[in-house]
Amino acid sequence: MTAVRIMARALTTAALAALLCVCAAEDVLYEISDDLYYQMPPLFHLDDYKQCLGTHGVYCLGSFELSAEPQHQLFQIMQRYSANWVDNFNHTRLHRGLCVSRRCPRDTSALYQRAHNDSHHTESLDTWFESCVNASTMSAYNLSARLYQLEYCRRGAGGADPPLTYNERAFAGALAAVLALAAISTVLDATLSDDTKKGAPWAVAWSAAACWRALGAAAAARRGSALAAMDGLRVLGMMCFIIEHVCWLNSLSYLVDTRRFERDRLADDVVLMTNGTLVVQVFFVMSSFLLAHKLLEQRRREQHVPKIATFVRTMFNRIIRMSPSYFFVVWFAASWWQRTGDGPMWEPLVGTESAICRHKWWTQLLYLNNVIYPDEKCLIQTWYLAADMQLYALSLVLTLALWRLRLGAVYVLGALMLLSVATNFTLAYLWRLVPTFILHRPESVRVVYRGEASFNVLYQSPLGNLPGALAGLLLAHLHHALLQRGVPLNDYKVFRWASVAATPLAALWVGASPRLLRGRPPPRAAAAALAAVERPVFVLLVVLAMLGAINGVRSPVRSVLAWRGWATCAQLSFGVLMLHMIINKSLVAARLAPTQLDRLTAILEWFGVAFVSYLAALLLALLVELPTQRLHRALSQPPPPAPAAHKKDAAQ
Ligand SMILES: *[C@@H]1O[C@H](CO)[C@@H](O)[C@H](O)[C@H]1NC(C)=O
Ligand SMILES: *[C@@H]1O[C@H](CO)[C@@H](O)[C@H](O)[C@H]1NC(C)=O
Ligand SMILES: *[C@@H]1O[C@H](CO)[C@@H](O)[C@H](O)[C@H]1NC(C)=O
Ligand SMILES: *[C@@H]1O[C@H](CO)[C@@H](O)[C@H](O)[C@H]1NC(C)=O
Repeated sequence: MTAVRIMARALTTAALAALLCVCAAEDVLYEISDDLYYQMPPLFHLDDYKQCLGTHGVYCLGSFELSAEPQHQLFQIMQRYSANWVDNFNHTRLHRGLCVSRRCPRDTSALYQRAHNDSHHTESLDTWFESCVNASTMSAYNLSARLYQLEYCRRGAGGADPPLTYNERAFAGALAAVLALAAISTVLDATLSDDTKKGAPWAVAWSAAACWRALGAAAAARRGSALAAMDGLRVLGMMCFIIEHVCWLNSLSYLVDTRRFERDRLADDVVLMTNGTLVVQVFFVMSSFLLAHKLLEQRRREQHVPKIATFVRTMFNRIIRMSPSYFFVVWFAASWWQRTGDGPMWEPLVGTESAICRHKWWTQLLYLNNVIYPDEKCLIQTWYLAADMQLYALSLVLTLALWRLRLGAVYVLGALMLLSVATNFTLAYLWRLVPTFILHRPESVRVVYRGEASFNVLYQSPLGNLPGALAGLLLAHLHHALLQRGVPLNDYKVFRWASVAATPLAALWVGASPRLLRGRPPPRAAAAALAAVERPVFVLLVVLAMLGAINGVRSPVRSVLAWRGWATCAQLSFGVLMLHMIINKSLVAARLAPTQLDRLTAILEWFGVAFVSYLAALLLALLVELPTQRLHRALSQPPPPAPAAHKKDAAQ
């Protein structure tokens, strides 16, 4: 009997030891029971902010690093669970917003005043906050907590807001001027005779009514065109960005249910949504395709196209078209944005970004914000505007340089594409860069990709997005080469099938490619390979689908995208791209409690943000974007334009 019992015990011990050895070798804990999960200290907590400040308390927000004795079992589990950094938060870091004065009362008035009188004593508030959190983690978990990042400590003083800065006054003045111009111009538009208006088109450039009509006329002009499907693509692409950013912003702030967040990260729909940032490549493809298509049409009609003059004129027109409303939004972000709300997370989310905008606004004006101070993000989505402008210039140069080559241009562009993939792979391997899905990992998102080489080198750089631009050029050149030879692509059954299948395949690639990587953390070469090919594979599928759509291959996707209703919204895409993040971030940052992120909330927030963003973009278009374009046109065209020509211009 005893022998059996001893043997059983020995066996169990051996089994346990074996288990421990396996774990120690990997040192990553993938699965964890609910019981164990909730033994770990919660990652996020916020005390009541309004109550604290309303009762003259001291409220502090910051992040803490935990540490423990080597034999602390719970801490070991926390470390091993966090070692799966691809999917999980780092559970040895806590994020707290506490009403320090209420939780750890102390005689504080002297402390606080000294802190304000003398910057050397600011530490005393930090120390108070740190010891307060440390005391609670010590008593509850026997874990020591060290403050590693203090966002702020503030006392509710009931004081007035700080006075307006010059920057804020200037913005208010500019806004008032724009509104006054719009009002005057609209009145002139309504009262002047048509002849007078034709003589002085600049006087009615700012007319809101005329801009509204121009918007409608432009939408009508776009509807019939062969490229109408692009409008649907623009609107749906924008909707993809909005849902991604809804989830992204929520995971950037304090979350209630981290368990669900970590568990759902590998759900099919969440992978599709997270990796859906690949969809931005469609915009690079469209942008360079439309550019090259327009020029190649001119070549087909054998128009004379002077190289340098075309380059200068095209770039100038593009900058003139985009810049006024873009700069206006950046200016708002750098000035009034931080005054428009309040909450425990307002300062770290909005205040910090606004300060960054004041620091690097000039890089935004130069469309170089993705390469100058790449770690600081002012309106993070505007990396796209910068990369797009850079790649647009490059596409223009390439198209003009390959002017005489016909089919040869397709080979040259194909070779450039391979070269860019090879370069991206080499860089990704050397610097251990990761593909998109891993890039959007919880801890990296929390710090807005600060110090993340994958974001700077691949995600927002012109180099990483080069395949998209090259694919657009390739599409345009291929299309024109085929036109010239009179190849009826639509007659080939294989091509029809391939082009119809390309769209679902592209979606499948977005949703399934992260699963090609086995292992957490993934092997270096595999991660580099995926990082280098995920965009090219996606854009080539998109190009195949677009080539079919342009050549009249019927598919359900094309019919949906060519719906007439998209045209109006498509014109507002640019404004929505800039504004949706401001609106969404204000919403998230003004929350008084940690946010709840689940599917239903995300979907409702998605449509809410989208609706408000389109409305705001409409205002921006009527008050800034269209008027400046009309003014530019009125001033650069000395002879009064005929109304028909006017409408056609507005359609562009
Ligand atoms: C988690 O955070 C701690 C403390 O900041 C750090 O030392 C550790 O390396 C992090 N773990 C992972 C897997 O990044
Ligand atoms: C802070 O400075 C003010 C005036 O500068 C002084 O009256 C006050 O006593 C100082 N408070 C402390 C705690 O040093
Ligand atoms: C806390 O850790 C210390 C060793 O660092 C240990 O002596 C003590 O018993 C622990 N206390 C609790 C309540 O686990
Ligand atoms: C937290 O408190 C414990 C004892 O209460 C102390 O030993 C430890 O040094 C403190 N940790 C920090 C980071 O202050």
